[in-house]
Amino acid sequence: MKDKLQVIWNKRVVGTLNRHQKGNVVFQYSQDWIDNESSPISLSLPCRKEKFAPGISTAFFENLLPESNTRAILAFRNRFDKKDTYSFLENFGEDCAGALSIIPGGMKPDFTPGQYENITQELIDALDKILVDPDKYKLYPEMKQAKLSLAGAQDKLPVYLKGTQFYLPKNSGSATTHIIKPINAGFTDIPRNEAFCMELAQRSGFPIPNSKIMKIGGHELFVVDRYDRQVFNKEIVRIHQEDFCQAMGYPVERKYQEAGGPGFAECRELIDEYLSNKGVMNRLLFIRMMIFNYIIGNHDAHGKNFSILHDNGFELAPFYDLVSTQVYPLDNKFAMAIGQTFRLDRIKEHSFELFAKDMNVRPNLLKTFTKEIYGAVEKELNGLILAHEKNYGEAEIYKDLSEVIKSNITQLQRFFR
Ligand SMILES: Nc1ncnc2c1ncn2[C@@H]1O[C@H](COP(=O)(O)OP(=O)(O)OP(=O)(O)O)[C@@H](O)[C@H]1O
Ligand SMILES: [Mg+2]
Repeated sequence: MKDKLQVIWNKRVVGTLNRHQKGNVVFQYSQDWIDNESSPISLSLPCRKEKFAPGISTAFFENLLPESNTRAILAFRNRFDKKDTYSFLENFGEDCAGALSIIPGGMKPDFTPGQYENITQELIDALDKILVDPDKYKLYPEMKQAKLSLAGAQDKLPVYLKGTQFYLPKNSGSATTHIIKPINAGFTDIPRNEAFCMELAQRSGFPIPNSKIMKIGGHELFVVDRYDRQVFNKEIVRIHQEDFCQAMGYPVERKYQEAGGPGFAECRELIDEYLSNKGVMNRLLFIRMMIFNYIIGNHDAHGKNFSILHDNGFELAPFYDLVSTQVYPLDNKFAMAIGQTFRLDRIKEHSFELFAKDMNVRPNLLKTFTKEIYGAVEKELNGLILAHEKNYGEAEIYKDLSEVIKSNITQLQRFFR
C-alpha cells in the first residue's frame, strides 16, 4: 500500500490513487465499492473496474486543492513541487469539498468523531501576520496541523466552529463545518462584500448557506456554513459534491471559459443531461442565478463556482462565492461569455437574447425572471445595508455595492422594457 492513497467515502474505501509521473494520479474504484455502493465520485469518473487515465484522474483530484499563492507557499514549505498533486493529497486530503477523505495507503483511518483541536489563538496570530504581509502569509500554511483542502484563489480555511471558538479536525472521522475567509489586500472589505451578496441572494429567494461576519482579535472574517456537512445521529456527516469543472473533466487551469473552460451552453448541457430528476427546475434556477450575478456585478462565476450535490440523485448545490467584483477597479471580464461577449462595456440587449438561446429558453421567460429578480433585490437592498451597518458597523463598501447594483438594474430595465 506504499505509494498509494486511500480514498474514503462514508467510512468505506471507494478507491485508490497511485502516483504517476510528475505528481499526477491514477484513480481506481475498489471492488468492494463497485459491488456494494456503485455511486460515482464524479460524473466524469463513472463507476467501473478499470483504472482511469492520469489526465482525467488528476483533473478531478487536483480540483480539490488550494490554488495560486496558497498552493505555492504550501509546496515551498513542505518541499514538494506545486504541480505535485499526489503529495498535496497525501498531506492535505483528509477533509475536502464533498464527502471524500484521502489518507496515505498504509494508514488505518481513524473514524472517531468529535476529535478537534482549538486553534483560536493560532488563528488570531495568523491573521495578525496576514494583515502585515498578505502575499507571504496565508491561513492554511500557518495552521501547522491542517490536513485539509479547499479549492479557490482566495485565502480561506475550513474549520469546526463552536460559539466563538475555532477548531481543526484531528482525524478523518471529524469533519469541518464552516469556511472562513479573511480580508484580502487588494480588495477593500471583501468579507463584508461576500456576506452582503450571499445574504442579498438568500433574501431574494435563492438557496444559499447561512453566512455572517465574525470579529476575532480585531479581525473581520467572512464565515459561512458548509452545506456539504450535516449532523446525523449527533455525528457530522460529509455530503458529496463536485464542482462543474470536476463533473465535466476540466483541469483547474481551465476554470474560465476564456482559458478553454465551460461556458453557459456547456453548463446547460450538463444540467440537462444529469440533473434532470427535477425536470427543468435546475436549469431555471441556474438562469436566475446568472441574472442575480449580473445584477450584483459578480463577474467571477466560473465553472468551479457552481457545484452538484450527490445526495439522493444529482442536484444543483446551493450557491456560494458570491462577490461583487464590479465594485473593484478590475478589467471586469465575465467568467462566462454572455452571448458573444466577455466584457461588461460590450453588453447589448442582443447579448441576452443569445444567452436565452444558450440556455434553451424563450427571451420572454428571461425577461420575466429578470424583472422578478431585480424587483426582489430592490426590495431588500436598503434594508440589508441598514441591517449590516447595525450588526457589523458602517463601511465604505455598502455605498459602492448599492451604486453598482442600482446602475446594473437601470441598464437591465432598458434592455427588458
Ligand atoms: N458554503 C459552502 N459549503 C460547502 N462547500 C463550499 C461552500 N463554499 C465554498 N465551498 C467549496 O469550496 C470551494 C472554494 O470556495 P470559494 O469558491 O468560496 O473560494 P474562492 O477562493 O473565493 O474561489 P475563487 O477561486 O473562485 O475566487 C468551492 O469551489 C466549493 O467547492
Ligand atoms: Mg470560488
